[in-house]
Amino acid sequence: MKREDFQQLDRGDPLTALREQFVVPDGLIYLDGNSLGVLPRATAARVAGVLEREWGQGLIGSWNAASWIDLPQRIGNKIARLVGALEDELVVADSTSVNLYKVLSAAVQIVREDAPARGVVVSERSNFPTDLYIAESVCRQHGWRLELLEHDTLADRLGCGDVALLMLTHVNYRSGRMHDMGALTRAAHDAGALTVWDLAHSAGAVPVDLHAAQADFAIGCGYKYLNGGPGAPAFVWAHPRHAGRFRQPLSGWMGHAAPFAFVPDYRPASGIARYLCGTPPVLSLAALECGVDSVLAAAPLGGMAALRSKSIALTERFIELVETRCAGHGLELVTPRAAAARGSQVCLARAEGGYAIVQALIARGVVGDFREGDKAREGVPDILRFGVTPLYTRFVDVWDAVEQLRQVLDGGEWREARFNQRAAVT
Ligand SMILES: Cc1ncc(COP(=O)(O)O)c(C=O)c1O
Repeated sequence: MKREDFQQLDRGDPLTALREQFVVPDGLIYLDGNSLGVLPRATAARVAGVLEREWGQGLIGSWNAASWIDLPQRIGNKIARLVGALEDELVVADSTSVNLYKVLSAAVQIVREDAPARGVVVSERSNFPTDLYIAESVCRQHGWRLELLEHDTLADRLGCGDVALLMLTHVNYRSGRMHDMGALTRAAHDAGALTVWDLAHSAGAVPVDLHAAQADFAIGCGYKYLNGGPGAPAFVWAHPRHAGRFRQPLSGWMGHAAPFAFVPDYRPASGIARYLCGTPPVLSLAALECGVDSVLAAAPLGGMAALRSKSIALTERFIELVETRCAGHGLELVTPRAAAARGSQVCLARAEGGYAIVQALIARGVVGDFREGDKAREGVPDILRFGVTPLYTRFVDVWDAVEQLRQVLDGGEWREARFNQRAAVT
């Protein structure tokens, strides 16, 4: 295939107009929307409006007049449409890490009541570290144990009778592998365990149907494929069969049944609202709403199903091009070749120079990222990660990115000292 073929694919792409919603810097190929989504054009004016009018002029009256108080649930309802949840089941609050603590704690209480002999949380060894750290902490608090396995042994382990919770990130951040949420949830339930799903790399990237999967709890990020901006608030969902059942441990006033009654005793709100804790971050929520709206804008064009088809087409071509044009350079595909088992990213392993190659690409205007491996453990290589975001990634970007990668590898420029100096954030 030639570059013109990729330009032709863009001309025939029904989603191409969605890119106009975003500020994509000229000449930049941004393949890191799986870490931080790009800025929607609507965000600056919206945030300025919140600052100047709603805060500047409306001051405290804006909690009612501008409906600030409704933002966590209003945006939650929009995200719900992207992940197969229903109205008022999902709410925006805090960070993904904090929400994970809340749902794990609630899940522990349910298991304690329903199946007190169980006390093992099973997860994937390569799950995102914050998930493992939070789970470790919850386990320590309750005298439970966290057990880490490889992806292909999870289902077998569930049947051993002691597993209380299966906690997974739906699309693995290092490999881009997408778990079968329905099948694993079924296996967990058949074995008497509950499921907690991290949708950080799924919401806005791949179709998710929490109800069809019968999942128990879910959390996810606002700043990745939802384009909510750096540090955007996260979301939390509990299946209605669990949502009102237990207090989550961070019993702040916003999760109270009557926050403005100012009573001294805590009475949790019914349903998912009890998963709120403190005052909602209004400026960040305004930005997040613009980001979520940018994903919902795909609805008339086929929504998540159409975005998924394009994402698969982009990642397929990325893989093909790397295999044909970068052959012999020691790159190994880590992401599953089968599209159904792949999220919206392509991850490549390389024994040497991964960090520097990514830096050399960034210097050429191709932004991907690098995830460190574990030299002490077999099967945990350094990873070069390239996320595609069908809302704004074009087919020609895929061609150009792989061409730049080929040039960086052919010329060996990544060996230059300037590409080998580590910054604080990789
Ligand atoms: C799977 C996953 N979970 C959680 C997080 C981060 O959570 P937090 O927003 O609390 O930093 C990330 C960040 O990249 C992630 O990839």
